[in-house]
Amino acid sequence: MPPLLEVRNLKTHFFTRDGVVKAVDDVSFTIDKGETLGVVGESGSGKSITALSILRLIPTPPGKIVSGEIFFEGRDLLKLSDKEIRKIRGKEIAMIFQDPMTSLNPVLTIGRQLAEPLTTHLGLTNEQARKESEDLLKMVGIPNVADRLKSYPHHFSGGMRQRVMIAMALACRPKLIIADEPTTALDVTIQAQILELLNKLRLETGTAVMLITHALGVVAGMANRIHVMYGGHVMESATTEELFANPRLPYTMGLLKSIPRLDESRHDKLQPIKGSPPDLLEIGNSCPFVPRCDYAMDVCTKSFPTIRVVPTENTLGIYIPGKPGNQMVEVSEGEDYEQHLLACHAEVKMGDPATVDAGEIVA
Ligand SMILES: Nc1ncnc2c1ncn2[C@@H]1O[C@H](COP(=O)(O)OP(=O)(O)O)[C@@H](O)[C@H]1O
Ligand code: SF4
Ligand SMILES: [Mg+2]
Repeated sequence: MPPLLEVRNLKTHFFTRDGVVKAVDDVSFTIDKGETLGVVGESGSGKSITALSILRLIPTPPGKIVSGEIFFEGRDLLKLSDKEIRKIRGKEIAMIFQDPMTSLNPVLTIGRQLAEPLTTHLGLTNEQARKESEDLLKMVGIPNVADRLKSYPHHFSGGMRQRVMIAMALACRPKLIIADEPTTALDVTIQAQILELLNKLRLETGTAVMLITHALGVVAGMANRIHVMYGGHVMESATTEELFANPRLPYTMGLLKSIPRLDESRHDKLQPIKGSPPDLLEIGNSCPFVPRCDYAMDVCTKSFPTIRVVPTENTLGIYIPGKPGNQMVEVSEGEDYEQHLLACHAEVKMGDPATVDAGEIVA
C-alpha cells in the first residue's frame, strides 16, 4: 500500500540578513495510514519547520520551501493552489500545537470554535455542528459539554484546553494529525493522560499521527517508528523497539542517556548531551553533530554521513562503498565505538567484520 504521506528531499530555508538558515535540509520520510511516527530532537532541530512545511504554513519571507516533494495520498501538496491546500488543512491534515492558547481564539466561545470547521469543511448546519461539537467534547473526556460549549478558552485548565485542541483536530476526521509538542506545556500526569487519549482516539478513528517532541520518553509508548532529527537533518530512523534496544548514532545514544529509564538502576546518572545545538549558518556539508560527537572523524566534517534507515533482518547499518583507505573492523555487540561505525560509516551484517572508512578521529 502506498504511504499516506511521503516527504521527499524537503529543503526549507530562511533567508536572513546573516545568511541562509537551512532549518530543514534534505529531509525524507513516509507515514503510513493509521500509524504513529515519532519525530524527536532537541529544540531547534527543524521539527516544527518540517511540520509547517507539510501544511505550507512557512512564513514567507524570510522562509521558503526551496525544493522537495510532499505527496499526500498521491498529490504533491507543494503543487496545489492556495485554495486547494486550504481544503486539506484541518480537513485532511490537522495540527495540534504546544500551546493551545496560541491557536484558540480568546474572544470566541469553545462552541463557536469547534463548530467553525464543521460548518466550513463539512457543510453541517449550525444545529448539526452544535450536536457534533458536544459529541467531540465528550469523546475527549470533557464533562458538562452543553455548558462547556458556552465557555471561553481562559475558563479551561491547560490540560482541558489541549483536550479541546484534540477535539478540534478530530472534528473533520482527518487522515493525519500532526501533534507538535502537544504535551510539553503540561505537567507530567496530564501529559500521560493526553498521550493516552491521543492514542485511544487514533485507534478508534484510524487517523495517522505525526508526534513531534523533544523528549524520547514521550514517543516511547506511542510511536511505531521514530525519526531522530538534528540540525535540519533526519539523523536516524528506526522502529521504536529497534531504536531503544539498539541505537546506532552517537546523537541518539546521547538522547537515550539523557532520559530517565524505569528499567535502569537509580545509580545510573542521567547524562545531558554536552554542548549546544548547532548554528545552522555554519554547518555546510559537515555532519551537524561534529562539535559534540565523541566519535567524529575527518570524514564527518566533509560530507553528511549516510544515515541508518529502518534496518532489514540482516542489515544493521549503512555502507559507503568504494572509499579509498577502507579498513576492516571487527564488530562486537554492545560497544559504542563499533555501534557508531555501523551507523555513520558502514554496512555490517550481524556478526560479520565490516569494511569502513575509519579516517582520522578528530574529536
Ligand atoms: N522565522 C525564522 N527565521 C529564521 N530562522 C528560523 C525561523 N524559524 C525557524 N528558524 C530556524 O529553524 C530552526 C529550526 O526551527 P524549528 O523547526 O522550530 O525547531 P524545533 O525542532 O525546535 O521545532 C531554528 O533553529 C531556527 O534557526
Ligand atoms: S560520528 Fe561523525 S557522522 Fe556520526 S554522528 Fe558523530 S560526527 Fe556525525
Ligand atoms: Mg518546535
